[in-house]
Amino acid sequence: MRIRRAALADMPRMVEIEEQCFPEEAAFPPGMFAYLIKYAVTLVACDPPEQIVGFIAGYVSGRVGAIYTLDVHPLFRKRGTGSELIRALESELQSLGARAIRLEAAVANQEARGLYIRAGYQESELLRNYYGRQKHALRMWKLLEPGESHGPA
Ligand SMILES: CC(C)(COP(=O)(O)OP(=O)(O)OC[C@H]1O[C@@H](n2cnc3c(N)ncnc32)[C@H](O)[C@@H]1OP(=O)(O)O)[C@@H](O)C(=O)NCCC(=O)NCCS
Repeated sequence: MRIRRAALADMPRMVEIEEQCFPEEAAFPPGMFAYLIKYAVTLVACDPPEQIVGFIAGYVSGRVGAIYTLDVHPLFRKRGTGSELIRALESELQSLGARAIRLEAAVANQEARGLYIRAGYQESELLRNYYGRQKHALRMWKLLEPGESHGPA
């Protein structure tokens, strides 16, 4: 599997995967992907030869990075793709200056919560009705190990 930066040409496949991952009311609108590709750090995971099987997007503000979204196509799950995308984004955000990364996951999304906990994130705060009525979220944080950073000192 190869992980690379997303390009605008990847949008249709990303929209298709988003539709497989989230119900319509929770999915990002297609236009959001153009924004994420242009202005955020968006990475896609490709199965050889060039089929996109998942993606992740995040950004950095000062010393804090954030993960916006993580999607793996249902047919390609439980092969480590989600974990690899998290590691690759962490490395990119760290090189842009992030010392810690924050994200929100639905309380009901046990799969995502387990994945993030295994990746070193800690649940820090309950965000009531974050995704709508009675759809609570957990904020999670991970402090990045000091490492090779190419960001501002
Ligand atoms: C959450 C999500 C991204 C996980 O993606 P994934 O590619 O399946 O993640 P991984 O493969 O790294 O890990 C998932 C599981 O597969 C297991 N796994 C990894 N490699 C494996 C392998 N080679 N063989 C068997 N199992 C494996 C992991 O140990 C983990 O197991 P567990 O859940 O039983 O503990 C995916 O389910 C998804 O897209 N869900 C819908 C969207 C979503 O909820 N996104 C997160 C929003 S916060």
